[in-house]
Amino acid sequence: DTMTVYTASTTAPVNIATLKYWGKRDKSLNLPTNSSISVTLSQNDLRTLTSVATSESFTEDKLWLNGKQESINSPRTKACLDDLKKLRVELEEKDSSLPKLSQWGLHIVSENNFPTAAGLASSAAGFAALVVAISKLYKLPQDMSEISKIARKGSGSACRSLFGGYVAWDMGVKDNGEDSKAIEVAPINHWPNMKAAILVVSDDKKDTPSTSGMQTTVATSDLFQWRIKEVVPKRYEEMKQSILDKDFAKFGDLTMKDSNSFHSVCLDSSPPIFYLNDTSKKIIKLIHALNEQEGKIIAAYTFDAGPNAVVYYEEENESKVLVTDPEIYKGVSRIILTKVGDGPQDTEESL
Ligand code: PMV
Repeated sequence: DTMTVYTASTTAPVNIATLKYWGKRDKSLNLPTNSSISVTLSQNDLRTLTSVATSESFTEDKLWLNGKQESINSPRTKACLDDLKKLRVELEEKDSSLPKLSQWGLHIVSENNFPTAAGLASSAAGFAALVVAISKLYKLPQDMSEISKIARKGSGSACRSLFGGYVAWDMGVKDNGEDSKAIEVAPINHWPNMKAAILVVSDDKKDTPSTSGMQTTVATSDLFQWRIKEVVPKRYEEMKQSILDKDFAKFGDLTMKDSNSFHSVCLDSSPPIFYLNDTSKKIIKLIHALNEQEGKIIAAYTFDAGPNAVVYYEEENESKVLVTDPEIYKGVSRIILTKVGDGPQDTEESL
């Protein structure tokens, strides 16, 4: 019946890397030059909700992001939709009684529960939610790691938002990306008291987008070669182990070192890329002073492609970490307190 509308909805989380993805070995497939690790953040505070609908009467694919209709034809979105439709075709070929959803238009509606202007990269949660919602609509049998390969084509870091807790993105070795996917390092319950303070640092200028920044670094930085060959492979194993051991001092040390390594290869690029500002640097100093005073690492900062800080710490240390430093708060417009959280969730809500 041409009037039947099939729908599905999901929510997906933001993740913040503690071992950074920086560099592509294949730009169109989003294959990275190194493996990475992240912590998934709670969807109570930050999440994307995506609803999808399809019907024989829908003649084309359409997309609305935060209430605004957007082009469906961006190569990244198209790459995701093409892969999902292909998997649905496989199902329809095996079972001819299935409705031919693969032939129909898709209507995709997506909303964040946090302002895009908060300076937080929302693309990871966005592409994760898009891919999970459609895979539910199509009743695809693939597991989250398999589906993460599709999310990866939307935005590399999005593949890590397919799991909750502590997540790795294994870079893989194949040219076709078949083995470049997210895997769970440990679930949320393994280390549930991990908290994250997001310090939103006010900035008016636009940062270098991650894709063009990565291309500049890969093409021009000598230090980058050292990072991917000599530093990250060992750090990847050590950080996974520190998570399994719930060894915050080790985990925090590696997290801060890796943030600084990433920003160093940015500075070593030509032209150089600057993401940290004076407030970011004050936060770095404050956290080192705090850890020094405590005699051990109880807090760890990390910065993505912008000046905002994410500070990880264990819940029992919250009062020590959240000290008020007027110098810092001059440059911080907003603080979001959150914690480690679950992966994508089914939801009764729909848009
Ligand atoms: O997934 P992208 O293309 O937005 O790149 C993310 C890059 C960093 O946030 C800086 C690091 C990471 O691993 O998330």
